[in-house]
Amino acid sequence: MDLNSTLPRRVVVTGAASGIGRAVAEGALASGGRVLAIDLHPDAAWDAPGLVQRAADVSDEARITEVFSQAPALLGGAPDAVVHCAGVYRWKALAETSAEEWDLSMRVNGRGSFLVSREASRIIDEGAIVLLSSVAYGRGDETEPGSAYAASKGAIVSLAQQLAAELGGRGIRVNAVAPGMIDTPMLTLGNTPRAVEALTAHLPARRLGTVDDVAAACLFLASGSAAYITGTTVHVDGGYLAS
Ligand SMILES: NC(=O)c1ccc[n+]([C@@H]2O[C@H](COP(=O)([O-])OP(=O)(O)OC[C@H]3O[C@@H](n4cnc5c(N)ncnc54)[C@H](O)[C@@H]3O)[C@@H](O)[C@H]2O)c1
Repeated sequence: MDLNSTLPRRVVVTGAASGIGRAVAEGALASGGRVLAIDLHPDAAWDAPGLVQRAADVSDEARITEVFSQAPALLGGAPDAVVHCAGVYRWKALAETSAEEWDLSMRVNGRGSFLVSREASRIIDEGAIVLLSSVAYGRGDETEPGSAYAASKGAIVSLAQQLAAELGGRGIRVNAVAPGMIDTPMLTLGNTPRAVEALTAHLPARRLGTVDDVAAACLFLASGSAAYITGTTVHVDGGYLAS
């Protein structure tokens, strides 16, 4: 079986300027695919054959609708995969969390996933949508309280299940990836190097995850090799949720 030959050829990646989204985009480009990279802050210094970048806020309905409607022309055909990595991570004790902070997580992570999925479903003829959840959906953490983040990532798991049911008949698969502690700029928002050492000491994998660990799972789910996988959440967490 040749896994590489089943990788998507035309891919939309959100949150593509940094971290996991960047690794997904680079992985798709490296295998000869074309990528429409969407981010709030595109990387002006990033250039590669097959890459097109657009600035957009995933929670901005008008802008996301506009950019997705341009995607088939920008990619030379309907995308066969959309990998939605854009997200925000905030944590604060419940009593100190404002309604505005709750709304930010819900707006970017929840509403953004809805809008990106809806627009993806309008332009994909047959293919896959991959949404980024987090292990925060599956386990509470006293040391890193992030009620809004956890709830927004739980919504993404439910969304993936529901959309798999709704879109399956049209040949569109929908799955979520739930990363654990992945070494990206997002992780450092909440953890000092000492905290990271303590967190990984009892993790089955005994290390942080890399962006490539997560990108590999995203690209697999986006590929034809995952043709019989839909409506599920893949944990890329070094065993965090299992242990
Ligand atoms: N890093 C981790 O440990 C970890 C763990 C669990 C889940 N995740 C999830 O993985 C995804 C990617 O995270 P990452 O670690 O690569 O983060 P990152 O901060 O490195 O990258 C996130 C990207 O999303 C973009 N972005 C933020 N808000 C946006 C918006 N409104 N519209 C468009 N783009 C926006 C940012 O500009 C940035 O380029 C996120 O959904 C995150 O919640 C990450």
